[in-house]
Amino acid sequence: MTETDIVILAAGKGTRMRSALPKVLHKLAGKPLLSHVLDAADSIAGAEKIVVTGHGSDVIRKTYHDASITLVEQAEQLGTGHAVSCALGQLREQAKVLILYGDVPLITPATLERMLSVINDNQIALLTIEIPDPTGYGRIVRDADSQIQAIVEQQDASPEQLEIGEVNTGVMGLTTNLLADWLPQINNDNAQGEYYLTDLIAIARRSGYNIASIQPDSTHEVEGINSRQQLAALERVYQLQQAEKLMASGTSLADPARFDLRGTLHAGQDNTIDINCLFEGDVIIGSNVSIGPNCHIINSRIGDAVEIKSNTVIEDAIVGDRAVLGPFARIRPGTQLGSDTKVGNFVETKKAIVGNGSKINHLSYVGDAELGEKVNVGAGTITCNYDGVNKHKTIIGDDSFIGSNSTLIAPLEIGKQGFIAAGSTVNTQVPAGNLAIGRGKQRNITGWKRPTKNK
Ligand code: UD1
Ligand code: CA
Repeated sequence: MTETDIVILAAGKGTRMRSALPKVLHKLAGKPLLSHVLDAADSIAGAEKIVVTGHGSDVIRKTYHDASITLVEQAEQLGTGHAVSCALGQLREQAKVLILYGDVPLITPATLERMLSVINDNQIALLTIEIPDPTGYGRIVRDADSQIQAIVEQQDASPEQLEIGEVNTGVMGLTTNLLADWLPQINNDNAQGEYYLTDLIAIARRSGYNIASIQPDSTHEVEGINSRQQLAALERVYQLQQAEKLMASGTSLADPARFDLRGTLHAGQDNTIDINCLFEGDVIIGSNVSIGPNCHIINSRIGDAVEIKSNTVIEDAIVGDRAVLGPFARIRPGTQLGSDTKVGNFVETKKAIVGNGSKINHLSYVGDAELGEKVNVGAGTITCNYDGVNKHKTIIGDDSFIGSNSTLIAPLEIGKQGFIAAGSTVNTQVPAGNLAIGRGKQRNITGWKRPTKNK
């Protein structure tokens, strides 16, 4: 038996979220709760994913229209057992089935593997945990030989059973065959009038099957989200886990509690990241990189020994080795900064290829531009790339010097070692080595009288 089918329950309303959005689409680390569970499921080779939806199933269907999952609808939420029955028709006969929850996002691949390893034709797997306050959970009832006999829900439990500290996490695993045999035996004759999935345990026991209990590595793996408060708390748990992984791989964090990752971050060694930095999408940073406070880096690749000063935003960009950025630099999509480049405060770049050793130090906009090597762009230089209809390109050759407050009207090409006088408006080609001055000539008026105040 090597096939695995993973059923994810996600039909509940999530009333306590007080939201128009289905609960499982609320985001943790920038990704819907359900996607976290789907990603964990994807770690199991060849697993098929079946998601049971109910409330908000249209929105869920739209969100996952191109994902390789099967959606089945549970029109009425008659209980967890009923929810799993809705998926029964989709299960492969020879499969092991794992039952997970769309609102329990931090379940790990390792736990799923452990569950799968104990499932066979005679044994089912149950994920249980001891917690200090078991209120609300189904209690695990064991016999004198410590064998699991049943799960009793809070509302159906006797006072003695309520004392039990071992609870059902909800996660269960068994073969399709056993599931198909036993689900029809469940009824709704209980305090909540629901078809309890948990009744399978007593049925299994009665039928002479063994129940193997597995424990997760941490309680966070089995924490479900019911409110925005719980979501925020679990977000911090997740972020701390990411911070610890990053530190373990050789990056120092000024404060692991003030680090956020919404995506993936691959980092070399001896990097330092100051407080309140946010990394999104896929970010790769080299080694010996220093990132100041309040930086936001999205889908970008940062070289070695780069210095990113505070409040810098970098998106869809490539930054070469030893570049120095910020404070307050905005590196927009399509920017490629060569090695030893400098982009200083209040500089915005977009689709700008900046050659090695070039500098744009202050207050500039450089968009749709190609700068050669060792170009110096003076303060306040603007590439006028947009004529109101189309975008045009500015090309600046190696070793050029662009004086401060220059207006470069694209399309424009400045040859190598071009020199633009400060304050110029340049709209025609500048041949290599030329000085371009494009500004009103200064006149001095002698004997000029200042205006005086009207009486
Ligand atoms: C369930 C377990 C309980 C366990 C607890 C762990 C049962 C009967 N009880 O209780 O033993 O300790 O989880 O959190 O299973 N759902 C559906 N369709 C339904 C009903 C539920 O999709 O008809 C989904 C919900 O969206 C939710 C999950 O199943 O994500 C759990 O349902 P809920 O009713 O909240 O179960 P609990 O009462 O928490
Ligand atoms: Ca319930």
